[in-house]
Amino acid sequence: MIIAIDGPAASGKGTVAKRLAAHFAYPHLDTGALYRAVGLTVLRQGLDPNDAAAATEAARGLDPAIIDDPEIRSGEAGAAASKVAIVGAVREALLAFQRDFAARPPGAVLDGRDIATVICPGAERKIFVTASVEERANRRLKELLGRGEAAIYARVLADLRERDARDAGREDAPMIQAADAYLLDTTTLDADQAFAKALAFVTDGTR
Ligand code: DC
Repeated sequence: MIIAIDGPAASGKGTVAKRLAAHFAYPHLDTGALYRAVGLTVLRQGLDPNDAAAATEAARGLDPAIIDDPEIRSGEAGAAASKVAIVGAVREALLAFQRDFAARPPGAVLDGRDIATVICPGAERKIFVTASVEERANRRLKELLGRGEAAIYARVLADLRERDARDAGREDAPMIQAADAYLLDTTTLDADQAFAKALAFVTDGTR
């Protein structure tokens, strides 16, 4: 079984994905980490993440070690990820790795923006996890402060809005809820409640 989880930044999709993977003993791929790794590579080269040629080269020659670098979690790397993700050749370079990961038995959980629509359109279970942008900004602020980054709510909110618009508005594989995906709104749910709903859907199709 392939479980495809999509949704905007700080919606809780990563937590839901991790917990589903642990429950079913499936491997989990956080596909955002791939785009973050490409974005961080470009930044470290002193280049602009909006530079399509630089982003493509970084994606094609991606060093897998950088995926484990904690710096990919920074706000800067997230913004750079969203920029390199616009480039079709970048998405193309990361496609086979994601599909191969998903195809291995006994199954897998993948989370991102285009898993249910582009990477694994045949996934048995699809969930689109979302939450209000204000709630997502609260969560992201807490996460950034917890990591010792300097952050203020207004800036985090503006960054998320900008990122949502870029991820949903791009031409190639935009973030969108698949027609057959279950919409899980976590605005008023804690992690346990969100997981319980996701599990009920995956197990018996409860919506
Ligand atoms: O999920 P995240 O915040 O780590 O993702 C970072 C960026 O990567 C996101 O803003 C857009 C891009 N991304 C994408 O385009 N497609 C994916 N499947 C996952 C992430």
